[in-house]
Amino acid sequence: MSIEQRIKQKEEQQVISRRVQQIAPSGIRKFFDLLINMEGVISLGVGEPDIATPWHIREAAIYSLERGQTMYTSNSGLLELRREVSRYLEREHGLKYSPETEILITVGVSEAMDLATRAVLNPGDEVIIPDPSYVSYPACVTLAEGTPVMVPTCQDENFEVSAAAIEENLTERTKAVIIGYPANPTGAIMPRQKLADIAALAERRNLLVISDEIYAKLSYGFEHTCFASLPGMQKRTILLGGFSKAYAMTGWRIGYAAAPAEIIAAMTKIHQYTMLCAPIMSQMAALEAIKTGDDDVVNMVDDYNRRRRLMVKGFNSIGLTCFEPKGAFYTFPSIVSTGMTSDEFAEKLLMEEKVAVVPGTAFGRCGEGHIRCCYATALNEIEEALVRIRRFVEAHRKD
Ligand SMILES: Cc1ncc(COP(=O)(O)O)c(C=O)c1O
Repeated sequence: MSIEQRIKQKEEQQVISRRVQQIAPSGIRKFFDLLINMEGVISLGVGEPDIATPWHIREAAIYSLERGQTMYTSNSGLLELRREVSRYLEREHGLKYSPETEILITVGVSEAMDLATRAVLNPGDEVIIPDPSYVSYPACVTLAEGTPVMVPTCQDENFEVSAAAIEENLTERTKAVIIGYPANPTGAIMPRQKLADIAALAERRNLLVISDEIYAKLSYGFEHTCFASLPGMQKRTILLGGFSKAYAMTGWRIGYAAAPAEIIAAMTKIHQYTMLCAPIMSQMAALEAIKTGDDDVVNMVDDYNRRRRLMVKGFNSIGLTCFEPKGAFYTFPSIVSTGMTSDEFAEKLLMEEKVAVVPGTAFGRCGEGHIRCCYATALNEIEEALVRIRRFVEAHRKD
């Protein structure tokens, strides 16, 4: 081949890597770009608390800046924060992690998920993910050159994933299972026994479990079991924890991973080259949150619970059957009775009534027939959104 031909061939190659081409833009963000220039929209869309971070947490970060703490920290994060995370995991779940070797402070659970998948997957390794699930799970697996294997869940089974359904999808390439309960987008919480069945399967088939515990503190009278706390599971679990949701700290970009030392060392290697460390002021804020923020969480949970009940009751009264979410801060009502697809429903609702919701399909194929609505939104806005959604559903009712 001549040099000219080689140059031409190169020009014809795609600029963007195949890996990145394989993943779609987040169905959450994609939809919200639409409403940036619209006025009067009520957003039940992006999953974040509608309140600012509690003042004492903000103040801790401000003080740290005033003291001139503006430098890098250790790659693993401030030892004091790792110690507090270790204490927290012991007091909440009876788990013992070494702050020196088994905990890594990350830029949110988002980074922790990326590091976890990249640290353990080889090209072609399969990872089981319940469908629907949080958008980043399959994307991170694909970016790590693994293959996401989506296992369907449904409203009739409370959006819980069974060990039997996971087992049916196992092959000799299966390396790990990703679970995230309380769940985004459904609000499901897994009963302890079902998690114990998955634990038994993980033991039998030598699987790793990546457990996203970001909503662990947001449950409404239902018991949440931390997967790593099940007998024998700590050694095969990568536990991801965060501050964004429980302490209303989405913008601080701070979280952590806890796992066996070998895995944390591998994750730290990637983190060291790509992130270096989490921002020091966010680490100082997280330190304050984890030490003294328990009361804030209790108050927020009370508040979210009132909004949760209002929204579930509202959807059911409109005729959009709504599974009762047990944790996190989302409802996932069925819109099947309207005859519209999730995408159609979300788009028309935004255009006609200026209410933003996320189509269930953003979270996987099994999200079809549902929309995700975040209730970390002011009560009066939820009330007004329900009025608009009722009007919308009535206008489109096929009698
Ligand atoms: C289930 C789940 N995991 C992780 C994240 C990202 O968390 P962070 O802000 O800690 O990166 C979110 C955010 O919506 C989420 O819902």
